[in-house]
Amino acid sequence: MTTLTPTGNVRPGDAMPDIPTAPTPAGLPDADTLARLANAFFSTLPGNVASQESPSAVGGLPSAWPAAVPVVSTVTNPAPAGSPLAGPGGAGTGVPGASLPAGRVPGGNLLPSAPTHVLTLGNRAPALAPHAAAQTGVPDNVATIAPALEPRTGGAALGVPPVQAHAPSPAVATREAGAAASSSSASSSAGPAPYYFIGAPEHGWQRPAQDIVVPSAGVVPQSFGLPHEDDLRSLLSIHRFAPGVEPHRHAPDSVPYFLDSERAARDPRGAGPAVPAAHPPFDVNAIRRDFPILQERVNGKQLVWFDNAATTQKPRAVIDRLAYFYAHENSNIHRAAHALAGRATDAYENARAIAQRFIGAASADEIVFVRGTTEAINLIAKTWGACNVGEGDEIVVSHLEHHANIVPWQQLAAQTGAKLRVIPVDDSGQVLLDEYRKLLSSRTKIVSVTQVSNALGTVVPVQEIVELAHRAGAKALVDGAQSVSHMRVDVQAIDADFFVFSGHKIFGPTGIGVVYGKRAILEDMPPWQGGGNMIADVTFERTVFQPPPNRFEAGTGNIADAVGLGAALEYVERIGIENIGRYEHDLLEYATSRLAPVPGVRLVGTARHKASVLSFVLKGYETEEVGRALNEEGIAVRSGHHCAQPILRRFGLEATVRPSLAFYNTCDEVDAMVSVIRHLSARSA
Ligand code: ALA
Repeated sequence: MTTLTPTGNVRPGDAMPDIPTAPTPAGLPDADTLARLANAFFSTLPGNVASQESPSAVGGLPSAWPAAVPVVSTVTNPAPAGSPLAGPGGAGTGVPGASLPAGRVPGGNLLPSAPTHVLTLGNRAPALAPHAAAQTGVPDNVATIAPALEPRTGGAALGVPPVQAHAPSPAVATREAGAAASSSSASSSAGPAPYYFIGAPEHGWQRPAQDIVVPSAGVVPQSFGLPHEDDLRSLLSIHRFAPGVEPHRHAPDSVPYFLDSERAARDPRGAGPAVPAAHPPFDVNAIRRDFPILQERVNGKQLVWFDNAATTQKPRAVIDRLAYFYAHENSNIHRAAHALAGRATDAYENARAIAQRFIGAASADEIVFVRGTTEAINLIAKTWGACNVGEGDEIVVSHLEHHANIVPWQQLAAQTGAKLRVIPVDDSGQVLLDEYRKLLSSRTKIVSVTQVSNALGTVVPVQEIVELAHRAGAKALVDGAQSVSHMRVDVQAIDADFFVFSGHKIFGPTGIGVVYGKRAILEDMPPWQGGGNMIADVTFERTVFQPPPNRFEAGTGNIADAVGLGAALEYVERIGIENIGRYEHDLLEYATSRLAPVPGVRLVGTARHKASVLSFVLKGYETEEVGRALNEEGIAVRSGHHCAQPILRRFGLEATVRPSLAFYNTCDEVDAMVSVIRHLSARSA
């Protein structure tokens, strides 16, 4: 073996010393080949491509840029008045002793200087050079606009090759070479897609099993209880849940989600509750196999998860997607000119597009990722609310609201001198629309209501509530935390100005959620948090913000979990939200019919339209005692105030026991729960 000899210190300009080289190992390319490959690679970098592309062809940028105003967003000085950084009129340097040079206008440094102002590596290069000179008041170099326009497309704009171009294993390379010889792929002939994955024939994590390269580092996966390479290929295969493909046709271990009616007729209980004949019966056992945690044992019993209103369990599709992201795509987004940044960016933006489709938003720019529903409502209260709600104005919520849809509005009211008004409910737990009408006036600025009550399960007529709010000239926010997993949501049909939900309540990860806002409203809203990612350009004098949604996504977001949320929504789409809703409706009816007659049980929340939730109290028992007794049998329910104290107090209670159902629950599980309640009931009689 040849060893490298120390070469001493090398100064710039020195001739490079000869470095003894090791002979090229068999099977690897020699230095000449490597040099040729490198030349070929660098000649295809987008810096070279840029001159052939018009700006409009890249990243969706307009071909004609406005001549006199910053193109990205409004110029705003975020520094509060009185701050040493606040310049006169919000546009000065803000730096003591410094003023803008004559002939310069604030924001003028953001103007593109040439039509080659495109998102390329070539244009990024000047941004890397030192150029800021805040202490003298000289505006930043025009090149600073280049990183400011980080595209929300990743791979294509960055010149990142599509996923199919991964370095294949020798075996895969041989197969691919054969396939390429016999057919030319659609993706290669069509050129790079605007997104790394979108538009590609296959999503990276859904590629055919044989194309998925599982890295091996000499560690045996089984020693960690993990699947072997072949299992992983199958788990990540496109065939498992390809849209439009019935999973059971391809996945060796999967079964159809929908039973043939003959089988259902023979065994209606096994297939879940009775389902109207016009619809294909729903095979809950097939669904359950997608959720590994449902096989968990608690206190020696198989887990029964009836705490779905608190959080839902995750299907294998979501778990695998998260693992795939961290194994193959993990990077920060938007910022770096390397392959993984492209993959991560496109995976993240793909999730945004899925969320848009899932709730029927008009544009992906109307989808802002946040931590969850609580953060979503806080964002709206602290941005839109701070600008639009003042002294004497009114904010309307319903008596059903979760604390997350009460406290941020209370805080806003306290800061502004506005008033919180509450829509009352009847004894079944449904909102009283006539009372609501009486609350509306020209003082009403926003109506913020839940679509489904987390404590009672009431389905609220939000479309009507939104319409009445609009007639009064108010905006309307719909809290979809408890609705999106149970019913079709179409934000445009509801005509909500804002719609918010959490990923973890719809089979996705925790720590990720969505604010939907109508585009024009989001455009008018100031940012909430400041920092990286949400800016178009920063000098010490002022900051130019990105347009929505990036304006509201300061810092590094929860990239992987956004991607996981996308996988969860796609999973729900594959099952069909109407199928889910129908099954759950029947299951809730079944559960209600079994629980209500138990002596000592008082159901709380008996509205005609309900989803998922069965709140109750049992005479002679604290709610925690009931929860503990159920837990001993492996049955998880929430007992307590459910972060909705006002509505429980409306019914004279501080707490309830709250089983909440999802489409993987069964009649047998309901029976197991009711049997525990019956046992408790008999003991206290
Ligand atoms: N909002 C959640 C619940 O209802 C935490 O349990």
